[in-house]
Amino acid sequence: MRVPMIAGNWKMNTTLSEAIELVNEMRRELDEIGNVDKVICPPFISLAAVRELINGSSIKLGAQNIYFEEKGAYTGEISPLMLSDLCEFVIIGHSERRHYFNETGEIVNKKVQAALGVGLKPILCVGERLEENEAGRTEEVVTEQLRSSLAKIDYLSGLIIAYEPVWAIGTGKAATGKQANETIGLIRRNISELYDGEIAQDMRILYGGSVNAANTTEFLNQPEIDGALVGGASLKANQFLSIVKQAAEIRGRL
Ligand code: PGA
Repeated sequence: MRVPMIAGNWKMNTTLSEAIELVNEMRRELDEIGNVDKVICPPFISLAAVRELINGSSIKLGAQNIYFEEKGAYTGEISPLMLSDLCEFVIIGHSERRHYFNETGEIVNKKVQAALGVGLKPILCVGERLEENEAGRTEEVVTEQLRSSLAKIDYLSGLIIAYEPVWAIGTGKAATGKQANETIGLIRRNISELYDGEIAQDMRILYGGSVNAANTTEFLNQPEIDGALVGGASLKANQFLSIVKQAAEIRGRL
């Protein structure tokens, strides 16, 4: 059975001291919740401090981005090697990166390869925009993103996928559990075709987009959905704890 995962994407929020405060607020309770992988993804500048704070706990750490070169003259970038020393996961291909920073499928693909190459587990994000959704192109867009992101990659060790419809991110307008379940089912079928059925069955696929404490059960009760990538609600300790607790309860029952 797939272990559910709740990952908090803090995006470009929290100063170093705010990050420390937020972790301190939820660390003890979060650590005690079983049956679910709990991942927090603070900004780069707070990774080392947060790592110290969660050391020895069951809380896991992720970064929000990566560059694909190992080292060198790339001012301002963070390499896979640097991250592999600090955290276990890295979010790749988030729609904000694709849209504000022009990350193409080719770039996302290089980043996924680079992360896997140093043993980091990518949380690969895919999802359609509103106009694509309204034009009935969700399946086509998500399939294309998946195939380009995973091109030439034979070995997916630990890779996680997050289905995040762009129209649901930060808008308060989440997909329905049924919609998300359908698209995640499609993603799993794609993985099965590209790799094999067993890899597809073992792969964790999360939903992301306006997940909060009030709608978590709607998603976690769906058979294809293995957890959530949470943005805004992961910045509030009580919300994030509630989401993780609900995920643990639901999956404990299944
Ligand atoms: P949101 O963000 O929960 O604030 O909608 C989700 C994400 O972008 O990962």
